[in-house]
Amino acid sequence: MADQAEKLRELVKAGTEAPAPGHKKTRIITVTSGKGGVGKTNLSVNLAISFAKVGKKVILLDADLGLANVNVILGVIPKYTLYHMIRKQKTMKDIITDTDYGIQFVAGASGFTKIANLSDEERKSFIEEMLALSDADILIIDTSAGVSKNVLDFVAAADDTLIVTTPEPTAITDAYGIIKIIATEFNNENMGLKLIVNRVDSVVEGKRVAERVISIANQFLNIKVDYLGFVFEDPLVQSSVLKQRPFVAVDPKGKAAQCLMNIVSRLEKVEFKEGSGLGAFLNRLFGRIG
Ligand SMILES: Nc1ncnc2c1ncn2[C@@H]1O[C@H](COP(=O)(O)OP(=O)(O)OP(=O)(O)O)[C@@H](O)[C@H]1O
Ligand SMILES: [Mg+2]
Repeated sequence: MADQAEKLRELVKAGTEAPAPGHKKTRIITVTSGKGGVGKTNLSVNLAISFAKVGKKVILLDADLGLANVNVILGVIPKYTLYHMIRKQKTMKDIITDTDYGIQFVAGASGFTKIANLSDEERKSFIEEMLALSDADILIIDTSAGVSKNVLDFVAAADDTLIVTTPEPTAITDAYGIIKIIATEFNNENMGLKLIVNRVDSVVEGKRVAERVISIANQFLNIKVDYLGFVFEDPLVQSSVLKQRPFVAVDPKGKAAQCLMNIVSRLEKVEFKEGSGLGAFLNRLFGRIG
């Protein structure tokens, strides 16, 4: 087993350590939450498109293996999903799907269980296939709510983990809950955790919620959480979901869309850590479960 993990690491190294001239590093952003239904998928999709608008090459990976629905919000019916890739019926290149919005996405495998359950052979091919995403400047990973081994693996591996909450007390409590689990699991003060407060009615409301979560995290969990920004409650979000068109495309100047642009510019200001990139991501991901 240890040999196998070592082999996988070598494989990743070989694939990424000597990048071709002009080869870029891929920044990995994982989006998660404590409570379900707080807006992760909508924010992931629209964040991806907002990054594309400022010239980034973005791939969105739907890692919610329970209820994959990035494709629903994008209004695309994928021919193939991660399921076909893991089952070796298709390569990653085959399943990357173009959209009308300047991003590409990889559809999730609804109902599929944990990556940790893959056989060694499947895991090895998963790593090889993930390297096909290293073309992107930014890889955004939409996950399921709550704590599963799967989500923690993606948190472990990401450069930035965006924790989404709303001002609802239950969402705040659950956001704190997932931060606590991350703090306990990794015992690392700087996990790149960043809070987004979605569905706020005012700037002050966002700030108030963020301050509460962040100060409790600092005080009791000794883990750093930055306030990344807020997204206004906007009826356009729901109507866009019904139209199956992302809200930043329906109304690029709308309230919610502008909030997303603010989040993009804040993320762009955050320095991109050394030792990151897709190869490092895969090393961390499979180092944990290997
Ligand atoms: N800023 C917003 N303004 C208004 N409604 C919103 C906003 N954000 C999200 N919603 C509503 O919340 C619903 C759920 O959003 P979404 O599916 O993105 O959540 P999720 O966190 O991905 O859910 P799950 O945990 O099931 O994956 C949307 O369909 C929309 O109706
Ligand atoms: Mg979702």
